[in-house]
Amino acid sequence: MRVLGIETSCDETGVAVYDTAAGLLAHRLHSQVDLHARYGGVVPELASRDHVRRLVPLIEEVLAEADTPREALDGIAYTEGPGLAGALLVGASVAQGLAFALGKPAIGIHHLEGHLLSPMLATPRPDFPFVALLVSGGHTQFYDVAGVGRYRLLGDTLDDAAGEAFDKTATLLGLPYPGGPALARLAESGRAGGASLPRPMIDSGDLAMSFSGLKTAVMTAVRKLEARGALDAQAKADLAREFESAVVDVLAAKAIAALDDAGRRTLVVAGGVGANLRLRARLVADAARRGAGVHFPDIAFCTDNGAMIALAGALRLHEARAGGGFTVRPRWDLASLPAVEANA
Ligand code: KG4
Ligand code: ZN
Repeated sequence: MRVLGIETSCDETGVAVYDTAAGLLAHRLHSQVDLHARYGGVVPELASRDHVRRLVPLIEEVLAEADTPREALDGIAYTEGPGLAGALLVGASVAQGLAFALGKPAIGIHHLEGHLLSPMLATPRPDFPFVALLVSGGHTQFYDVAGVGRYRLLGDTLDDAAGEAFDKTATLLGLPYPGGPALARLAESGRAGGASLPRPMIDSGDLAMSFSGLKTAVMTAVRKLEARGALDAQAKADLAREFESAVVDVLAAKAIAALDDAGRRTLVVAGGVGANLRLRARLVADAARRGAGVHFPDIAFCTDNGAMIALAGALRLHEARAGGGFTVRPRWDLASLPAVEANA
């Protein structure tokens, strides 16, 4: 089965072709980072317009690279939500229009399910059941995953997502948007113990997390350093390193606790912050000590992409119904998805 995947939930236009027998055949991503950088964040209307400009040519490029004429597709998957309504509508209407013209099924995919299943694009592919850490700009959650659509929320952040905290802390340190990767780069020149920040809720005894206090602690530290005229490049790097360490410490401790709670031996990490190299190394080391394995998507598939939507689409294409219009869901609860019995 061969599926075209389209992702337009936020500021990246992602397109891919996934084949259930041959794997990922082609994928392309157009990032709008440059378009939004001067505003310090994503401007929804600009995002929608850019998706309109980019999507159809990107689909043509990807189909050519995958050596797949449109007629050879078995279906088209697109991100139905959550995300920016206008951006979602671009992907949904192009996917539905193309599917209608070809007489093929189209299926709307939950963006977080795409992230959650994205480690299945990598080799070796994780087997169900597993615990998933979904750590992105909008979410920091642990799920017990028994199969496709069988997701039980184990723990969540009470306030900011880890990626959001990375982005806001980066802004405090004067780094350009998008902050997460820039902060991680700056942290490389920071000294261990060069600054001191709390590990919020690390001993809370449950899987709840909180990251907004950490950002506030960085703000307080920045103000103190500024008042002393000591906010130089090294001080900023030290703060970046300590911030990254604090997030990594909390996520690693909670990840091990989540594996224990759910009684699983496999951890899967997905979402943009999963691209963080120190987080990856730490999770592998801590899980190994406990006899558990960790699966990550390739770095390119941690952040938003079309491949994860094509993969989830292949697993859910049987649910697609012809005609009857379509919708997008800017807000959508992952736990409300139907379970899938047979896994492709
Ligand atoms: O999954 P994603 O592309 O978008 C959604 O939020 O759905 O995740 C983006 C988030 C941003 O907050 C970004 O700063 C963060 O992932 N991120 C990172 C790194 N790369 C991306 N955070 C820390 N270290 C990184 N290397
Ligand atoms: Zn995402």
